[in-house]
Amino acid sequence: MTRQLFVTTALPYANGNFHIGHIMEYIQADIWVRYQRMMGNAVDFVCADDTHGAPIMIAAEKAGITPQQFVANIAAGRKPYLDGFHISFDNWHSTDAPENHELAQAIYRDLRDNSDGSLIESRTIEQFFDPQKNMFLPDRFIKGECPKCHAKDQYGDNCENCGAVYAPTDLINPYSALSGVKPELRSSEHFFFKLSDPRCVAFLEQWTQDGKLQPEVANKIKEWFTVRTNPDGSQSEGLGDWDISRDAPYFGIEIPDAPGKYFYVWLDAPIGYLASLKNLLDGRGIDYEAYMANPELEQYHFIGKDIVTFHTLFFPACLHFSGRKTPDNIFVHGFLTVNNGEKMSKSRGTGLDPLKYLSLGMNPEWLRYYLAAKLSARNEDIDFNADDFMARVNSDLIGKFVNIASRAAGFIAKRFEGQLGDVPEDGAALLHQLRIERGSIERLYEEREYAKALRETMLLADRVNAYVDANKPWDLAKQAGQEARLQGVCTVCIKAFRILTCYLKPVLPELAARVETFLNVPPLSFGNVGEPLETGHIIGTYQHLMQRVDIKQLEALFEPPVQAEQVLTATESAASALPGGEAIAPTISIDDFAKIDLRIAKIVQCQAVAGSTKLLQLTLDVGEVDEAGQPTTRNVFSGIASMYKPEDLSGKLTVLVANLAPRKMKFGVSEGMVLAASHADDKAQPGIYVLEPFPGAQPGLRIH
Ligand code: 2FM
Ligand code: ZN
Repeated sequence: MTRQLFVTTALPYANGNFHIGHIMEYIQADIWVRYQRMMGNAVDFVCADDTHGAPIMIAAEKAGITPQQFVANIAAGRKPYLDGFHISFDNWHSTDAPENHELAQAIYRDLRDNSDGSLIESRTIEQFFDPQKNMFLPDRFIKGECPKCHAKDQYGDNCENCGAVYAPTDLINPYSALSGVKPELRSSEHFFFKLSDPRCVAFLEQWTQDGKLQPEVANKIKEWFTVRTNPDGSQSEGLGDWDISRDAPYFGIEIPDAPGKYFYVWLDAPIGYLASLKNLLDGRGIDYEAYMANPELEQYHFIGKDIVTFHTLFFPACLHFSGRKTPDNIFVHGFLTVNNGEKMSKSRGTGLDPLKYLSLGMNPEWLRYYLAAKLSARNEDIDFNADDFMARVNSDLIGKFVNIASRAAGFIAKRFEGQLGDVPEDGAALLHQLRIERGSIERLYEEREYAKALRETMLLADRVNAYVDANKPWDLAKQAGQEARLQGVCTVCIKAFRILTCYLKPVLPELAARVETFLNVPPLSFGNVGEPLETGHIIGTYQHLMQRVDIKQLEALFEPPVQAEQVLTATESAASALPGGEAIAPTISIDDFAKIDLRIAKIVQCQAVAGSTKLLQLTLDVGEVDEAGQPTTRNVFSGIASMYKPEDLSGKLTVLVANLAPRKMKFGVSEGMVLAASHADDKAQPGIYVLEPFPGAQPGLRIH
């Protein structure tokens, strides 16, 4: 029976580009969605930008643009990532869209007007207020001295030095991180969702403990029903009510009948799942209410382990007590670390830049395969390890799977005009073994046990390779009278390859599409993989299906970016309407900017680099002297040879990033980076332009 599924990933904050943690989640969900579609199920897979909240409002203000413009800039940069990694969302929307305003307000009204008693309560609370900015301050925008260890400049909710958790009012000498002024305590009316209401507690105990959630997630949640940690670090019993309102100015959705009050971003963010779905359905002319009323509809959300409370307490409670459908499950994954490094934080991905990965020509399906080979249904962290990545892709994916086709296809094409023959008896037994594993592989995908699904598939590939090794088609090809046997053995290989391709298709959709063309078969699905390929079926010409990972690509991937243009080449079709072909980067503070030491540099010498068509070698005077007081110069390599001849630059002034870590290159050590501008799509719009200061600037002057 066809199932109807509504699937989402968490909505990313619209204040930065995707990092590898986002891409991992999207790949995990996309594999599941593609598997469901291959089972013949109907899936609507949606996401959106999470746009509201104080941080985005403040970042937009600093950038001198409206929050709407700010999030539009971020949204414009999403496509190259999603297309690049073959993420098959049906819709990408925004939590600031009209559908979300309407849905969030409707849900709030239904909670407030619940006929068994309102789930919303208003209370007056005291909060820090910035008299200069004229706004209440979120905890993260209040700083001061830690009450425990007395470290200065700590945030209002916890100390990064000693780890203490406290309330902003506990800080010694608090100040506003926005204006620097001393905040005042002021009272304000706030709206609370009554999570502590016995109806809510009873519902949530049942909803979270009925066996649908992952056991480790359900166990953690169980603790929250007995004890909770308050903002000041103290502990109380049971679930606490949830403050769902914020005062103006706030970038968010207005609370009905409460002028100047807005929903806290986490109230409207998950409702954004529904808004994105509604937008999709409206576009198709399908009635949203009727769609949601379908009792057979299954609703699933893929999320990271840091946002479990919002998805397993607040969101289902809001939906249930407003008379709406609750999710059928929440699938929680752990964090991704890179080369045993730190976890991918929300705001700064470290280590593995997804666009850089693509721009280096690395195959997105390598990453899909590698992550799938590590993912289970458990909420556990996984690590991206460069050596392991190379081994799994080159040895397993290519060595065991792709090679099956290359070992057999040539003989079929050259010796039998592309025609498949009869399957010999031993081959039939092998193919039978492959087919009967289908149910088990389906089950593993359904349960999100991708690592196990791939392991089983690779064990089947081992059997096929053992069959090839035992039958040695290359020997048969040399023996007279063995044509039928050769055709039979190669036919078995091709048929086996088709089955294995189907089993890997949720993970490797592009490769599978190329295999379908090569084998001249309709799109593979779990429903049709059992149908045999007839004797006499003609396959196409084999074309190399996948390159191996080159160690140099991995080295380049983890090399800190030095030449601006290396990174900027990544966005192929990224909205050509954007300035220079790319969205303005997320706002940074003046402190962030001050970390980059830019100096006027004189190019005292410039020369070509033997063996490189891209680089020029610059000798720069930045006004520095050595320990003996003698003037010194710096050596910098710059990828600008396509634009400039050495004589164009010698004697000119330019700008140097003077505190960049030295980088060892093939031709020597580069001691900084010269600033140059280029378009994001340097193939379509080539050109790299070195910066030159106005007359009068002297070597060594700092750029402020
Ligand atoms: O943690 C985050 O990145 C949030 N933007 C996730 C929101 S998920 C959903 F609730 F919208
Ligand atoms: Zn401290």
